[in-house]
Amino acid sequence: MKAGSDFLSIHELTTEDVQEILALTGELKAKQKAGVEHHLLKGKTLGMIFEKSSTRTRVSFETGMYQLGGQALFLSNRDLQIGRGEPIKDTARVLSRYLDGIMIRTYGHEIVTELAKWADIPIINGLTDLLHPCQALTDVFTLQEYKGKDLKGLNMTFIGDGNNMAHSLMFACTKLGINFHWAGPKGYEMDSHIIELAKEDAKATGSQIKLLHDPMEAAKDADVICTDVYASMGQEEEQAKRLKDFAGFQVNQELLSVADKRVVVMHCLPAHRGEEVIEDVFEAQANVIFDEAENRLHTQKAIMALCMGGVK
Ligand code: CP
Ligand code: NVA
Repeated sequence: MKAGSDFLSIHELTTEDVQEILALTGELKAKQKAGVEHHLLKGKTLGMIFEKSSTRTRVSFETGMYQLGGQALFLSNRDLQIGRGEPIKDTARVLSRYLDGIMIRTYGHEIVTELAKWADIPIINGLTDLLHPCQALTDVFTLQEYKGKDLKGLNMTFIGDGNNMAHSLMFACTKLGINFHWAGPKGYEMDSHIIELAKEDAKATGSQIKLLHDPMEAAKDADVICTDVYASMGQEEEQAKRLKDFAGFQVNQELLSVADKRVVVMHCLPAHRGEEVIEDVFEAQANVIFDEAENRLHTQKAIMALCMGGVK
Protein backbone atom coordinates (compact mmCIF):
# COMPACT_ATOMS: atom_id res chain seq x y z
CA MET A 1 0.00 0.00 0.00
CA LYS A 2 1.29 3.43 -0.86
CA ALA A 3 1.91 5.92 1.97
CA GLY A 4 -0.94 8.44 1.91
CA SER A 5 -3.58 5.85 0.90
CA ASP A 6 -6.98 5.91 2.52
CA PHE A 7 -8.44 2.78 4.08
CA LEU A 8 -12.15 3.02 3.41
CA SER A 9 -13.23 -0.34 1.99
CA ILE A 10 -11.50 -3.71 1.53
CA HIS A 11 -12.90 -3.83 -2.00
CA GLU A 12 -10.70 -0.85 -2.94
CA LEU A 13 -7.53 -2.75 -1.94
CA THR A 14 -5.72 -5.29 -4.10
CA THR A 15 -5.21 -8.85 -2.86
CA GLU A 16 -1.51 -7.91 -2.48
CA ASP A 17 -2.47 -4.92 -0.28
CA VAL A 18 -4.50 -7.22 1.96
CA GLN A 19 -1.63 -9.73 2.17
CA GLU A 20 0.80 -6.89 2.99
CA ILE A 21 -1.39 -5.68 5.86
CA LEU A 22 -1.79 -9.22 7.22
CA ALA A 23 1.97 -9.86 7.06
CA LEU A 24 2.81 -6.58 8.81
CA THR A 25 0.14 -7.33 11.44
CA GLY A 26 1.94 -10.57 12.28
CA GLU A 27 5.30 -8.78 12.50
CA LEU A 28 3.99 -6.00 14.73
CA LYS A 29 2.15 -8.45 16.99
CA ALA A 30 5.36 -10.47 17.45
CA LYS A 31 7.36 -7.31 18.20
CA GLN A 32 4.83 -6.08 20.73
CA LYS A 33 4.75 -9.48 22.50
CA ALA A 34 8.58 -9.57 22.58
CA GLY A 35 8.80 -6.02 23.89
CA VAL A 36 10.71 -4.86 20.79
CA GLU A 37 10.27 -1.16 20.06
CA HIS A 38 8.47 -0.43 16.79
CA HIS A 39 8.05 3.33 16.65
CA LEU A 40 7.02 3.44 12.99
CA LEU A 41 4.91 6.58 13.48
CA LYS A 42 7.13 8.53 15.85
CA GLY A 43 5.94 12.09 16.32
CA LYS A 44 2.73 11.57 14.29
CA THR A 45 -0.82 12.34 15.40
CA LEU A 46 -4.03 10.50 14.54
CA GLY A 47 -7.38 12.24 15.01
CA MET A 48 -10.21 9.87 15.92
CA ILE A 49 -13.70 11.20 15.11
CA PHE A 50 -16.49 9.28 16.82
CA GLU A 51 -20.14 9.86 15.96
CA LYS A 52 -21.10 6.47 17.47
CA SER A 53 -20.10 4.60 20.63
CA SER A 54 -17.05 2.33 20.79
CA THR A 55 -14.99 0.28 23.21
CA ARG A 56 -12.62 -1.75 21.00
CA THR A 57 -12.07 0.72 18.18
CA ARG A 58 -11.35 3.66 20.42
CA VAL A 59 -9.03 1.87 22.83
CA SER A 60 -7.16 -0.17 20.18
CA PHE A 61 -6.52 2.81 17.88
CA GLU A 62 -5.43 5.03 20.75
CA THR A 63 -3.14 2.39 22.29
CA GLY A 64 -1.88 1.35 18.86
CA MET A 65 -0.84 4.88 17.99
CA TYR A 66 0.99 5.16 21.32
CA GLN A 67 2.81 1.86 20.72
CA LEU A 68 3.87 3.14 17.28
CA GLY A 69 5.49 6.16 18.93
CA GLY A 70 2.77 8.65 18.05
CA GLN A 71 -0.33 10.00 19.76
CA ALA A 72 -4.08 9.91 19.17
CA LEU A 73 -6.73 12.54 19.81
CA PHE A 74 -10.29 11.48 20.69
CA LEU A 75 -12.68 13.81 18.88
CA SER A 76 -16.35 13.37 19.71
CA ASN A 77 -18.94 14.95 17.44
CA ARG A 78 -20.51 16.32 20.63
CA ASP A 79 -17.43 18.55 21.00
CA LEU A 80 -16.43 19.16 17.39
CA GLN A 81 -18.01 21.92 15.32
CA ILE A 82 -19.29 19.26 12.85
CA GLY A 83 -21.84 18.48 15.57
CA ARG A 84 -23.05 22.10 15.13
CA GLY A 85 -23.12 21.96 11.34
CA GLU A 86 -19.60 22.85 10.15
CA PRO A 87 -19.28 21.14 6.75
CA ILE A 88 -17.20 17.97 6.44
CA LYS A 89 -15.21 19.54 3.61
CA ASP A 90 -14.07 22.41 5.84
CA THR A 91 -13.34 20.10 8.77
CA ALA A 92 -11.26 17.91 6.42
CA ARG A 93 -9.15 20.84 5.22
CA VAL A 94 -8.59 22.21 8.72
CA LEU A 95 -7.67 18.87 10.31
CA SER A 96 -5.28 18.15 7.42
CA ARG A 97 -3.20 21.13 8.62
CA TYR A 98 -2.72 19.62 12.11
CA LEU A 99 -2.89 15.85 11.86
CA ASP A 100 -1.15 13.01 10.00
CA GLY A 101 -4.22 10.81 9.69
CA ILE A 102 -7.89 10.54 10.68
CA MET A 103 -9.91 7.55 11.82
CA ILE A 104 -13.65 8.15 11.64
CA ARG A 105 -16.64 6.17 12.93
CA THR A 106 -19.92 7.52 11.63
CA TYR A 107 -23.32 6.72 10.08
CA GLY A 108 -23.50 7.27 6.30
CA HIS A 109 -20.58 5.91 4.29
CA GLU A 110 -20.74 9.06 2.13
CA ILE A 111 -19.51 11.10 5.13
CA VAL A 112 -16.27 9.10 5.07
CA THR A 113 -15.83 9.39 1.30
CA GLU A 114 -16.49 13.16 1.52
CA LEU A 115 -13.89 13.48 4.28
CA ALA A 116 -11.38 11.50 2.17
CA LYS A 117 -12.12 13.63 -0.89
CA TRP A 118 -11.25 16.88 0.90
CA ALA A 119 -8.50 15.77 3.30
CA ASP A 120 -4.83 15.71 2.30
CA ILE A 121 -4.07 13.05 4.90
CA PRO A 122 -5.07 9.35 5.04
CA ILE A 123 -8.60 8.55 6.22
CA ILE A 124 -9.30 5.24 7.97
CA ASN A 125 -12.85 3.92 8.16
CA GLY A 126 -13.56 2.92 11.77
CA LEU A 127 -17.12 1.76 10.88
CA THR A 128 -20.00 3.17 8.86
CA ASP A 129 -23.54 1.86 8.41
CA LEU A 130 -22.22 0.17 5.24
CA LEU A 131 -18.77 -1.19 6.12
CA HIS A 132 -16.45 -2.15 8.98
CA PRO A 133 -13.17 -2.93 7.19
CA CYS A 134 -10.80 -2.81 10.20
CA GLN A 135 -12.83 -5.51 11.93
CA ALA A 136 -13.09 -7.74 8.85
CA LEU A 137 -9.33 -7.62 8.17
CA THR A 138 -8.74 -8.41 11.83
CA ASP A 139 -11.05 -11.40 11.46
CA VAL A 140 -9.10 -12.86 8.53
CA PHE A 141 -5.81 -12.27 10.41
CA THR A 142 -7.30 -14.19 13.38
CA LEU A 143 -8.47 -16.90 11.00
CA GLN A 144 -4.88 -17.28 9.76
CA GLU A 145 -3.78 -17.85 13.36
CA TYR A 146 -6.32 -20.67 13.76
CA LYS A 147 -6.35 -22.20 10.26
CA GLY A 148 -2.96 -21.40 8.73
CA LYS A 149 -1.74 -18.63 6.45
CA ASP A 150 -3.35 -19.86 3.22
CA LEU A 151 -7.07 -19.27 3.62
CA LYS A 152 -7.99 -20.01 -0.02
CA GLY A 153 -10.85 -22.49 -0.31
CA LEU A 154 -11.97 -22.21 3.34
CA ASN A 155 -15.69 -21.72 4.00
CA MET A 156 -16.87 -18.71 5.98
CA THR A 157 -20.54 -18.50 6.95
CA PHE A 158 -22.16 -15.32 8.23
CA ILE A 159 -25.46 -15.75 10.07
CA GLY A 160 -27.64 -12.69 10.61
CA ASP A 161 -28.19 -9.20 9.30
CA GLY A 162 -26.82 -8.22 5.88
CA ASN A 163 -25.05 -5.34 7.62
CA ASN A 164 -21.66 -3.55 7.71
CA MET A 165 -19.93 -6.67 9.11
CA ALA A 166 -21.46 -9.00 6.51
CA HIS A 167 -20.42 -6.61 3.72
CA SER A 168 -16.82 -6.22 4.89
CA LEU A 169 -16.35 -9.91 5.64
CA MET A 170 -17.66 -10.75 2.16
CA PHE A 171 -15.11 -8.30 0.68
CA ALA A 172 -12.28 -9.79 2.78
CA CYS A 173 -13.25 -13.32 1.72
CA THR A 174 -13.54 -12.54 -1.96
CA LYS A 175 -10.14 -10.77 -1.97
CA LEU A 176 -8.51 -13.90 -0.51
CA GLY A 177 -10.34 -16.75 -2.27
CA ILE A 178 -12.37 -17.74 0.82
CA ASN A 179 -15.91 -19.00 0.08
CA PHE A 180 -18.55 -16.77 1.66
CA HIS A 181 -22.00 -18.06 2.63
CA TRP A 182 -24.60 -15.76 4.12
CA ALA A 183 -27.97 -16.60 5.67
CA GLY A 184 -30.43 -14.15 7.15
CA PRO A 185 -34.16 -13.47 7.04
CA LYS A 186 -35.92 -12.17 3.96
CA GLY A 187 -35.85 -8.37 3.97
CA TYR A 188 -32.42 -8.20 5.65
CA GLU A 189 -30.24 -9.08 2.65
CA MET A 190 -26.94 -7.37 1.92
CA ASP A 191 -26.75 -4.28 -0.30
CA SER A 192 -27.06 -5.31 -3.96
CA HIS A 193 -24.24 -2.99 -5.13
CA ILE A 194 -21.87 -4.45 -2.51
CA ILE A 195 -22.79 -7.95 -3.71
CA GLU A 196 -21.96 -6.99 -7.31
CA LEU A 197 -18.56 -5.61 -6.28
CA ALA A 198 -17.76 -8.75 -4.26
CA LYS A 199 -18.73 -10.93 -7.23
CA GLU A 200 -16.13 -9.11 -9.36
CA ASP A 201 -13.41 -10.02 -6.84
CA ALA A 202 -14.77 -13.55 -6.45
CA LYS A 203 -14.36 -14.09 -10.19
CA ALA A 204 -10.67 -13.20 -9.91
CA THR A 205 -9.88 -15.24 -6.78
CA GLY A 206 -12.22 -18.22 -7.19
CA SER A 207 -14.34 -17.55 -4.07
CA GLN A 208 -17.87 -18.89 -4.13
CA ILE A 209 -20.62 -16.67 -2.78
CA LYS A 210 -23.89 -18.24 -1.57
CA LEU A 211 -26.70 -16.02 -0.32
CA LEU A 212 -29.40 -18.04 1.41
CA HIS A 213 -32.29 -17.85 3.85
CA ASP A 214 -31.62 -21.24 5.47
CA PRO A 215 -28.99 -21.03 8.24
CA MET A 216 -28.38 -24.81 8.32
CA GLU A 217 -27.65 -24.91 4.61
CA ALA A 218 -25.34 -21.90 4.90
CA ALA A 219 -23.42 -23.40 7.85
CA LYS A 220 -22.83 -26.79 6.18
CA ASP A 221 -19.08 -27.60 6.24
CA ALA A 222 -18.24 -24.12 7.53
CA ASP A 223 -14.67 -23.63 8.78
CA VAL A 224 -15.67 -20.39 10.47
CA ILE A 225 -19.07 -19.04 11.46
CA CYS A 226 -19.41 -15.30 12.04
CA THR A 227 -22.33 -13.42 13.45
CA ASP A 228 -23.24 -9.94 14.69
CA VAL A 229 -26.05 -8.18 16.54
CA TYR A 230 -29.52 -8.15 14.98
CA ALA A 231 -29.84 -4.36 15.47
CA SER A 232 -26.77 -2.25 14.78
CA MET A 233 -25.94 1.17 16.19
CA GLY A 234 -28.61 3.57 14.96
CA GLN A 235 -31.27 0.79 14.70
CA GLU A 236 -32.11 0.62 18.41
CA GLU A 237 -35.80 1.38 17.87
CA GLU A 238 -36.08 -1.67 15.54
CA GLN A 239 -34.74 -4.04 18.22
CA ALA A 240 -38.12 -5.62 19.15
CA LYS A 241 -39.17 -6.17 15.52
CA ARG A 242 -35.76 -7.56 14.59
CA LEU A 243 -35.81 -9.96 17.53
CA LYS A 244 -38.94 -11.54 16.01
CA ASP A 245 -37.74 -11.38 12.39
CA PHE A 246 -34.39 -13.03 13.17
CA ALA A 247 -35.90 -16.00 15.05
CA GLY A 248 -34.01 -19.12 13.93
CA PHE A 249 -30.93 -17.18 12.86
CA GLN A 250 -28.80 -18.01 15.86
CA VAL A 251 -25.37 -19.54 16.34
CA ASN A 252 -26.12 -22.53 18.58
CA GLN A 253 -25.14 -26.20 18.94
CA GLU A 254 -27.61 -27.33 16.29
CA LEU A 255 -26.05 -24.97 13.74
CA LEU A 256 -22.52 -26.06 14.67
CA SER A 257 -23.47 -29.72 14.22
CA VAL A 258 -23.53 -29.30 10.41
CA ALA A 259 -20.27 -27.30 10.25
CA ASP A 260 -16.76 -28.75 10.00
CA LYS A 261 -15.91 -30.36 13.34
CA ARG A 262 -13.00 -27.94 13.86
CA VAL A 263 -15.23 -24.91 13.17
CA VAL A 264 -14.37 -21.66 14.94
CA VAL A 265 -16.95 -19.01 15.81
CA MET A 266 -16.21 -15.32 15.53
CA HIS A 267 -18.07 -12.27 16.78
CA CYS A 268 -16.92 -8.68 16.36
CA LEU A 269 -18.53 -7.79 19.73
CA PRO A 270 -20.46 -6.48 21.55
CA ALA A 271 -22.50 -9.73 21.64
CA HIS A 272 -26.12 -10.24 22.68
CA ARG A 273 -26.20 -13.67 24.29
CA GLY A 274 -29.42 -15.57 23.70
CA GLU A 275 -30.04 -13.58 20.50
CA GLU A 276 -27.52 -14.06 17.67
CA VAL A 277 -25.36 -16.46 19.73
CA ILE A 278 -26.08 -18.65 22.74
CA GLU A 279 -24.05 -18.43 25.92
CA ASP A 280 -22.44 -21.91 25.80
CA VAL A 281 -21.23 -21.53 22.21
CA PHE A 282 -19.91 -18.05 22.99
CA GLU A 283 -18.00 -19.26 26.06
CA ALA A 284 -16.69 -22.40 24.32
CA GLN A 285 -15.28 -20.13 21.59
CA ALA A 286 -14.14 -17.34 23.92
CA ASN A 287 -10.44 -17.81 23.06
CA VAL A 288 -11.10 -17.13 19.39
CA ILE A 289 -13.46 -14.24 20.08
CA PHE A 290 -11.10 -12.45 22.47
CA ASP A 291 -8.07 -13.11 20.23
CA GLU A 292 -10.17 -11.43 17.55
CA ALA A 293 -10.75 -8.46 19.86
CA GLU A 294 -7.02 -8.25 20.70
CA ASN A 295 -6.05 -8.44 17.05
CA ARG A 296 -7.88 -5.18 16.33
CA LEU A 297 -4.85 -3.54 17.95
CA HIS A 298 -2.27 -5.30 15.79
CA THR A 299 -4.18 -5.07 12.50
CA GLN A 300 -4.92 -1.38 12.91
CA LYS A 301 -1.28 -0.66 13.77
CA ALA A 302 -0.35 -2.24 10.44
CA ILE A 303 -3.02 -0.24 8.60
CA MET A 304 -1.90 3.04 10.24
CA ALA A 305 1.79 2.33 9.64
CA LEU A 306 1.19 1.63 5.95
CA CYS A 307 -1.26 4.47 5.27
CA MET A 308 0.55 7.09 7.36
CA GLY A 309 4.01 6.51 5.90
CA GLY A 310 5.60 4.50 8.68
CA VAL A 311 6.84 1.79 6.33
CA LYS A 312 9.48 2.76 3.77
N1 CP B 1 -16.17 -4.47 17.20
C1 CP B 1 -16.12 -3.14 17.41
O1 CP B 1 -15.91 -2.36 16.48
O2 CP B 1 -16.30 -2.77 18.69
P1 CP B 1 -16.55 -1.29 19.24
O3 CP B 1 -17.90 -0.86 18.76
O4 CP B 1 -16.48 -1.44 20.73
O5 CP B 1 -15.47 -0.39 18.72
N1 NVA C 1 -23.04 -4.11 13.15
C1 NVA C 1 -22.59 -3.55 14.40
C2 NVA C 1 -21.12 -3.70 14.54
C3 NVA C 1 -20.57 -3.16 15.84
C4 NVA C 1 -19.09 -3.30 15.96
C5 NVA C 1 -22.98 -2.08 14.45
O1 NVA C 1 -22.83 -1.38 13.42
O2 NVA C 1 -23.47 -1.63 15.47
